[in-house]
Amino acid sequence: MTNTPPVCNYEGSDYQQSFWDQGGRAYEDKAEAIALKRMLPSSGKLMLEVGAGAGRNTPRYAGFERIVVMDYSTTQLTQAQERLGRSDKYVYVAADVYRLPFRNGLFDGATMIRVLHHMADAPKALEQIRETLQPGATFILEFANKSNLKAILRYWLRKQSWSPFTREPVEFVKLNFDFHPQAIRQWLNELGFSLGKTLTVSHFRLGLLKRLIPANILAGLDGFFQPTGALFQLTPSVFVKATLPGAATVKVPGTIIEYFKCTECGSETLQEKSDRVACPACGSAWLVKDGIYDFREKIK
Ligand SMILES: C[S@@+](CC[C@H](N)C(=O)[O-])C[C@H]1O[C@@H](n2cnc3c(N)ncnc32)[C@H](O)[C@@H]1O
Repeated sequence: MTNTPPVCNYEGSDYQQSFWDQGGRAYEDKAEAIALKRMLPSSGKLMLEVGAGAGRNTPRYAGFERIVVMDYSTTQLTQAQERLGRSDKYVYVAADVYRLPFRNGLFDGATMIRVLHHMADAPKALEQIRETLQPGATFILEFANKSNLKAILRYWLRKQSWSPFTREPVEFVKLNFDFHPQAIRQWLNELGFSLGKTLTVSHFRLGLLKRLIPANILAGLDGFFQPTGALFQLTPSVFVKATLPGAATVKVPGTIIEYFKCTECGSETLQEKSDRVACPACGSAWLVKDGIYDFREKIK
């Protein structure tokens, strides 16, 4: 197996419940919904949601005919299944973003929200995603911004040693990274993306404001200020819309097994047999359990 960067493992985590449902983050959730609505194409064929977690954002991609709900953690995917159901609309895949099991040029849309935050090698993760995208595809990326106002003030007041102005990522907690907007733009440009809208999100991430002002109103205000992201980015969270040149020419395959490629030898002719996916070319196999294609570790 090739070496890949470490994964921030959410297996068994109650992230959705503790961070979102009971964590007082209705405002941030609604503000993200506004940003996504502004950036998503009105329709599409096949969307890849990278690091989907418990599927909090997935219903927002309903304009796409089918969504591949992908995450490293199977317990997150199980929660996503409970939220979204097991219909033809959703395909659940457990995989590492650094070793994606999808054919090149498959998807016409992808999102990665609150996930780059955990990437020790962000350019490598972005490169993997780029390979799965068709010409003309839209990629919506959220990243945690190291040059946010709070970090700048803390730096000036000498309460923080690292500079918010330099381009390298900062790992403030193990496997938790903030990024400089210019570095993100450079990486996306180097991968051939054209950059569209940049929206700043979570302008009002302050406990007092969130307690005083109803989430809907605060999110509405956030939405008003989001377009200022085109000029400057001082918020903790930034959304970027990136598109690949060209027009979609690749047809989305009719069967799900045709979405995949072998993570070992790259063969694109895999076979699905009851509880497994197998690669006739190199003999590798992966488990399919409870509606989840599990490409993290091969079983053969
Ligand atoms: C902070 S959560 C965000 C979940 C979801 N996008 C949301 O905004 O509600 C980060 C997610 O990224 C997933 N993740 C972290 N590293 C990953 C990797 N290397 N490959 C795939 N998923 C990964 C985690 O399992 C987790 O579900």
